[in-house]
Amino acid sequence: MSSLQALFGTALPIIQAPMAGANLSAMAIAVSEAGGLGSLPCAMLSPDQVRREVQTIRTATAKPFNLNFFCHTPPVPDRQREAAWLDRLRPYYREFGLDANAPAGGPTRGAFDEALCAVVEELRPPVVSFHFGLPPEPLLRRVKETGAKILSSATTVAEAAFLAEWCDAIIAQGLEAGGHRGMFLTADLDTQLGTLALVPAIVDAVTVPVIAAGGLADARGIAAALTLGAAAVQLGTAYLGCPESTISDLHRAALTGSAPTAITNVITGRPSRGIVNRLVREVGPISPLAPSFPNALPAILPLRAAAEARGSADFSPLWAGQAYPLSRALPAGALTRQLMTESLSILGGRRPAE
Ligand SMILES: Cc1cc2nc3c(=O)[nH]c(=O)nc-3n(C[C@H](O)[C@H](O)[C@H](O)COP(=O)(O)O)c2cc1C
Repeated sequence: MSSLQALFGTALPIIQAPMAGANLSAMAIAVSEAGGLGSLPCAMLSPDQVRREVQTIRTATAKPFNLNFFCHTPPVPDRQREAAWLDRLRPYYREFGLDANAPAGGPTRGAFDEALCAVVEELRPPVVSFHFGLPPEPLLRRVKETGAKILSSATTVAEAAFLAEWCDAIIAQGLEAGGHRGMFLTADLDTQLGTLALVPAIVDAVTVPVIAAGGLADARGIAAALTLGAAAVQLGTAYLGCPESTISDLHRAALTGSAPTAITNVITGRPSRGIVNRLVREVGPISPLAPSFPNALPAILPLRAAAEARGSADFSPLWAGQAYPLSRALPAGALTRQLMTESLSILGGRRPAE
């Protein structure tokens, strides 16, 4: 058993990536029951929703699970930038016959705060993972005091060195990864490495176990990551096609296509990898006009709703990693077991981290 499996109490070195908007308790339960580490993304949930989902998990399984939180610094509203952003999008509002001056609401992306910290203290999850760095030290100390194992994503060696002081293990998130880049010490996309280069660089730089993430969607990728020195893998895109995934039918259909992916800031304001659609192609992939995360989103939501009502994913977030053609429409538990059996067969029954 690798040090990481001992740390989490799981049978397999596979973590199902928390995917805000794409999974809830059903997927976490299926993966944890199969022997991996299931994750519940909490960035789009209220404290009460987190409580309900955790209760569902604990009713269904006694196995360990992970609660995941975003810990970005909430942006200072910038009216001028938000107005410029709306101006850039105005032609699309006209096309759909929408009023660009009507305020838009919708699901927010909340940062880990006092209320969510109190929920962690109350629920005492076995594992807590963060994205976009770590929360302020007083909150982090309180999470640590619950006994939860702490993880966070690093996209550079410098970020891994920063996290190593606090984290029980570090997720090395390569450039291929779907969803938001966890980058927090840099905003420069040129610093971002592919998984093949990032994992051994971080393994060499820190003493805590390293979890490889990004572009790993079948047994070949998992075996490669374990061979590079990762103690475990964290897979997101591989699970998107599972029946437990909560993505829209339009998102699911896009996964069966062959459009390229790109890292874009035009949906939330923060770089995130998804399948290229009209919005990303015409306004991005990177726009200097996009307000800071998550303030680009409110202006996108009415366009998304109008397009989706016409059966189009032109303005939808289609988060997916570069390896999305490898994702399989299997139940999440069966997929977890199959990925592990196939990886072990490639590795000749030997797990390099053992
Ligand atoms: C649809 C989607 C949503 C994601 N949401 C989150 C999230 O809420 N929290 C998080 O820590 N990571 C999130 N990620 C990133 C994953 O943790 C992980 O880095 C990534 O999925 C690994 O690359 P892969 O998609 O190629 O497997 C998301 C990824 C995807 C594909």
